[in-house]
Amino acid sequence: MKKFKRYLVTSALPYANGPVHIGHLAGVYIPSDIYVRYLRLKGEDVLWVCGSDEHGVPITIKARQEGVTPQDIVDKYHNIIKNSFEELGISFDIYSRTSSEMHRKTASDFFRKLYDDGKFIEQTTMQYYDPEAGQFLADRYITGTCPHCQNEKAYGDQCEKCGTTLNATDLINPRSAITGAVPELRETKHWFLPLDRYESFLRRWILEEHKEWKPNVYGQCKSWLDLGLQPRAVSRDLDWGIPVPVEGAEGKVLYVWFDAPIGYISATKELTPEWEKYWKDSETKLVHFIGKDNIVFHCIVFPSMLQAHGEYILPDNVPANEFLNLENDKISTSRNWAVWLHEYLQDFPGKQDVLRYVLCANAPETKDNDFTWKDFQARNNNELVAILGNFVNRTLVLTTKYFEGKVPVAETLTDYDRDCLKEVSAIKISLENNIEHYRFREALKDAMNIARMGNKYLADTEPWKVFKENPSRVAAILNTALQITANLAIAIEPFMPFTADKLLNLLQCGSLGWNQLGNDSILSVGHQLGKPELLFEKIEDKAIEVQLAKLEAARMANLAKEVKVEPCKESISFDDFSRMDIRVSKIVAAEKVAKTKKLLKLTVDTGIDVRTIVSGIAEFFTPEELIGKQVLVLVNLEPRELKGIKSEGMILMAEDATGKLVAVVPEHEVKQGSCVR
Ligand code: 2FM
Ligand code: ZN
Repeated sequence: MKKFKRYLVTSALPYANGPVHIGHLAGVYIPSDIYVRYLRLKGEDVLWVCGSDEHGVPITIKARQEGVTPQDIVDKYHNIIKNSFEELGISFDIYSRTSSEMHRKTASDFFRKLYDDGKFIEQTTMQYYDPEAGQFLADRYITGTCPHCQNEKAYGDQCEKCGTTLNATDLINPRSAITGAVPELRETKHWFLPLDRYESFLRRWILEEHKEWKPNVYGQCKSWLDLGLQPRAVSRDLDWGIPVPVEGAEGKVLYVWFDAPIGYISATKELTPEWEKYWKDSETKLVHFIGKDNIVFHCIVFPSMLQAHGEYILPDNVPANEFLNLENDKISTSRNWAVWLHEYLQDFPGKQDVLRYVLCANAPETKDNDFTWKDFQARNNNELVAILGNFVNRTLVLTTKYFEGKVPVAETLTDYDRDCLKEVSAIKISLENNIEHYRFREALKDAMNIARMGNKYLADTEPWKVFKENPSRVAAILNTALQITANLAIAIEPFMPFTADKLLNLLQCGSLGWNQLGNDSILSVGHQLGKPELLFEKIEDKAIEVQLAKLEAARMANLAKEVKVEPCKESISFDDFSRMDIRVSKIVAAEKVAKTKKLLKLTVDTGIDVRTIVSGIAEFFTPEELIGKQVLVLVNLEPRELKGIKSEGMILMAEDATGKLVAVVPEHEVKQGSCVR
């Protein structure tokens, strides 16, 4: 492996059109935070940059929906995202934003250089234009029927129902999402980066020189390259973004995927005057952490831009993750099917490391994975509390009990003691190897194995049984357990920095570098430890139920959105309406109609009389829950016979989002027989 002098780490710039959720964290920010914390602990020269991606059509759509400006939207979400990252301990060296002046200038200059060097081709194409709004429509602004699955709400770039990538001109019955008008095709000029010219460079650079990239990344690149690359437009007709810095480009901005990756450069410039060292020296290792939907932009498009520019280094690796699902369903911002970071931080104060742990243990590194609240609870209770917390607590409590919280002397160590201490060094090698190859789940397992080993060590040596007859043996055991604990504080730091701090505090230790990991005498004899405290607490069922109820509410709201509202029926006269006699009635008895699934026989007091109504609602109500209930009854409906029973009237019902019938009832109890008008 090539040895580098310094590292530049980037993490995908999140769109500032919504808060960050667990999918973003598991896919990008937790792994990159682990990687960078590890490098820093090792004393490497590393910079880590990120920021909000504040351009692009979705932001303008959101602004329109909310009746505010795009700037209002990005200001709001930039702050929410930045603060919640900070609170989770995501330790960027800079969290910038692409609406900054530095970025505008950097991206403009970048474009201009490529333009001046003749790296673009100019092309006039036909594009949809909304004559009512007086503007060209980005693909996302056009909706219509998907030619593949007939979904009537497909977008100009993709059908979210069948997943097909579309061209706006593929849509049947295209409509402008802004005004609903039928769009017309008009000519417009754009600048294109001819990716086909970079194909042979990309084939050599990725397919030959970077065979070590993760199979999902390498595979996606290979299939893009095998399909053959086309020129890609790097400008758009839009009024939100960085203006195209050339004559005759009024009303045109840089395509968001052209400016966003340049955001990594602008953020570095903002961070340090020495930015060029990190971007232009081949001894820098550049690593892009991204989600799988960003692979083509980071492995094909951005490297082609960098290559076209000519002054920049290329990434050494692009460790993209797959997607995280939530409770067996795709995470979706528009359906509110997500665990939002800022809400988690409110609902689980002080439990940042639990989320960090669970998302890393369950990270979608090689395939899509699922987050469930039950698993979250189980990992906290069975792993963090029962393994890590338990080992540390037992060690500290026993030392306090037998040696007044001072590190006891280990006069003689047994082979077993020595083997356990040596095992930490073996774990260190595996841990490093895993982190350096972007296998963070395995790396976390390694760190936890130190605690697992510690628990086994205490269970095997049973110091609590030995103390009476052999206190010096117990001193050696606890010295060993304490050295393991101190090692543990180092090993868990990249993954759980808050817990590592707490643990160092319990040990009354200053910070420890990575080079101390594997050292069997970090704590000196006689060193005074702090008062034992629990590192983690159990998460009770109640807290999990609250989260599941939140998701259930989102699910119901989505179902309600999907329910088709029937078109309005033909109009009727007031007389037609007043011929219907609807009365508030009370159900006084109810029973199932034998040999049927759907029918209930109800005895109803209509205020006029007491009568029988047969109703097809047995799938939705038990007889018991209906007795005593007031309902509305159409009492002058012609009687009819059902299963040999005469039914006189009909109970009014509405259908809920799931198709379940619910009774329409008076707001409060009124007299039976009261008319509905
Ligand atoms: O997919 C996304 O969320 C994009 N905003 C990522 C941009 S990464 C980079 F290129 F800036
Ligand atoms: Zn479709």
